[in-house]
Amino acid sequence: MKNYHVPVMLNESVSALKIHDDGIYVDATLGGGGHTKAILDSNKNIKVFAFDQDEDAIYEARNYLKDYSNKLTIIKDNFANLRTRLSLERIKKIDGILFDLGVSSHQISKPERGFSFSLDGKLDMRMDKSQKLSAYDIINNFSYEELKNLFFEFGEERESSKIAKTIVSNRMKKKISTTLELSEIIENSIFSRHKLKAKARIFQAIRIYLNEEIEVLKTALKDAVDILNFEGRIVVISYHSIEDRAVKKFFQYQAKSCICPPNFPKCVCEKVSTLTIINKKPILPSNDEILKNSKARSAKLRIAEKRRSDE
Ligand SMILES: C[S@@+](CC[C@H](N)C(=O)[O-])C[C@H]1O[C@@H](n2cnc3c(N)ncnc32)[C@H](O)[C@@H]1O
Repeated sequence: MKNYHVPVMLNESVSALKIHDDGIYVDATLGGGGHTKAILDSNKNIKVFAFDQDEDAIYEARNYLKDYSNKLTIIKDNFANLRTRLSLERIKKIDGILFDLGVSSHQISKPERGFSFSLDGKLDMRMDKSQKLSAYDIINNFSYEELKNLFFEFGEERESSKIAKTIVSNRMKKKISTTLELSEIIENSIFSRHKLKAKARIFQAIRIYLNEEIEVLKTALKDAVDILNFEGRIVVISYHSIEDRAVKKFFQYQAKSCICPPNFPKCVCEKVSTLTIINKKPILPSNDEILKNSKARSAKLRIAEKRRSDE
């Protein structure tokens, strides 16, 4: 079976987990299974729990990783539910967790999933196919205001207003059903030289909104801190600034031991620092990796470690 996904920042992310004997590790984003396999190969005496909400990813990774079934448990669920799902497996504490966020190369390369603005497929973009709302519903039913705000908030697209307006006027003639129809509408709505970037940003915005990517990430990070053993690590690879900002802010907040306003004479907040930030600046992939794997181009790796409350 072909493993479509070339794992991004593989050595950097797996070594950041500081894997040790008898540890329990979670790969929150199984995808093609590349990172999970490297985690499993790094130590014989560990257990790994791997999550994905995409049934296709689960199906293929189960096959790819079939030789590891005594050490690996694959769970089809959103990582927002990791705490509940792990406790059903009688796991209360873990020693490290990896998030390799976003969409997989496998998902992007399948036109019928609707993630790619250059492959013709239905406007779908659901990572979990059992979910009802799809990109089609957003594009055809959201108001001009809703579309504009969504494109700006999750795509950081400056031409959001023009693009939303053109979508609304086009869909009055005929429903917008395919990725290429939407691509063409974006292309025709702006004069800028950055049409390709605009398409990427609008598709990204719809995907993030539809799959609630930022909210579920915040929930999972919070739960991860709670269930990590002391000195256990959270390792996150993100691919765009909205994701990276959410991770950075979360780590910074958790690392703080006081959140009182600066003019308070003494601390009254009782905030406890729960994380040590390992790398203040994100780790970036090497030029060599970017040359070999263009997906790595926008990757940023952040690492934080659970600290003892008395440190
Ligand atoms: C970038 S890929 C991971 C690739 C993987 N590290 C590998 O080596 O092949 C991201 C995967 O995470 C999954 N995913 C994204 N958000 C998720 C969430 N909230 N819950 C569970 N899985 C999620 C996607 O379905 C996708 O398969």
